[in-house]
Amino acid sequence: MAVGKKETKKITTNLLRWYDKAKRDLPWRQTRDPYKIWLSEVMLQQTTVSVVQKRYVRFVERFPDLESLAASTEEEVLAEWSGLGYYSRARSFLQAARMVVAEHGGDVPPSAAEFGALPGVGAYTTGAVLSIAFDLPEPIVDGNVIRVLCRLFALRGDPAKGPLKKKLWALAGELQSPRSPGDFNQALMELGALVCTPRTPLCGRCPVRDACEARARELVDRIPRVKKRQKVQSIVLAGVLVKRGGRVLMTRQPPDARLLRAMWLFPSVEVDSLGEAPRRLSQHATSLLGVPVEVGETPLKTIPHSITCYRIRFSLFPSRIKRKPATIRCESHLRCASHLRWVHPRDIDTLPVSSLVQKALPE
Ligand code: ADE
Repeated sequence: MAVGKKETKKITTNLLRWYDKAKRDLPWRQTRDPYKIWLSEVMLQQTTVSVVQKRYVRFVERFPDLESLAASTEEEVLAEWSGLGYYSRARSFLQAARMVVAEHGGDVPPSAAEFGALPGVGAYTTGAVLSIAFDLPEPIVDGNVIRVLCRLFALRGDPAKGPLKKKLWALAGELQSPRSPGDFNQALMELGALVCTPRTPLCGRCPVRDACEARARELVDRIPRVKKRQKVQSIVLAGVLVKRGGRVLMTRQPPDARLLRAMWLFPSVEVDSLGEAPRRLSQHATSLLGVPVEVGETPLKTIPHSITCYRIRFSLFPSRIKRKPATIRCESHLRCASHLRWVHPRDIDTLPVSSLVQKALPE
């Protein structure tokens, strides 16, 4: 498949014209501030546009610029990221923001070599931020772009692997518009999101349908090849609601935990079956608080929750403390207030918590 210059230009022009009319009005499209564009791209990596819209606005209100973000603690940033999942994104973003302040005077460097060297910034984020914020003709390839290009040029094979991956980046670069690189990249992604969708694409509305090889060869529903699903592991997680004077006991997951690393959660244990949960939770809570904790046999709530390759069923059990526990002091690693806290339910949002906690909290 060789694409002629003329054909490439026509695809680019048609895409840009379409984008101008069809693009969604999204908050990060109202700015050229590299920090805000970078933030939107980090959020959009694993989260849907509709969720990001609200959370982006809130995040920008809380951390309006790179300096305010860089001056914040990880806990403050993770709390603002609560419920968005994939928390390592937020940690890297904070680390990178601090490096921009320390090493680049607070200005996002408009260079692929320098920006791409920051923590968490890969080829996609580099291309997206440099093209959208600085009008640099960098290409991008994400899931939507892969689908659009594979169909447009009837490319088969695994787009995540070597030769095809390389080809897709090269094609994205050939099609790139030197005059409107940011709009062009967003047009490709927007086409994938709104028209060239995984199932039942709206080919009748596609601005590049006449150039589409997959359409001409009736291969649209077979390209790109559907990825084999990652194996999903089922986990039964049991948590205990320990209350004291209107507050609930929360613990911080260890930094090397398998689930919800460094996030705050009800004291919880993974179990093989729910039958063993009350005894295990009682042992766990008792050792955390240093006073006997009785755990009820019937969960207050059971909720499903999926993260990456885990399908979790989380059950929250009621409990009763038999003696008044001592105030939490920094006596040992686990009893330290940085790992164990009494929190009023209305203040839960001030801690880094997964949406699992919000869903499980009794009303
Ligand atoms: N997906 C990620 N970033 C995007 C953007 N700027 N426009 C459209 N879709 C996107």
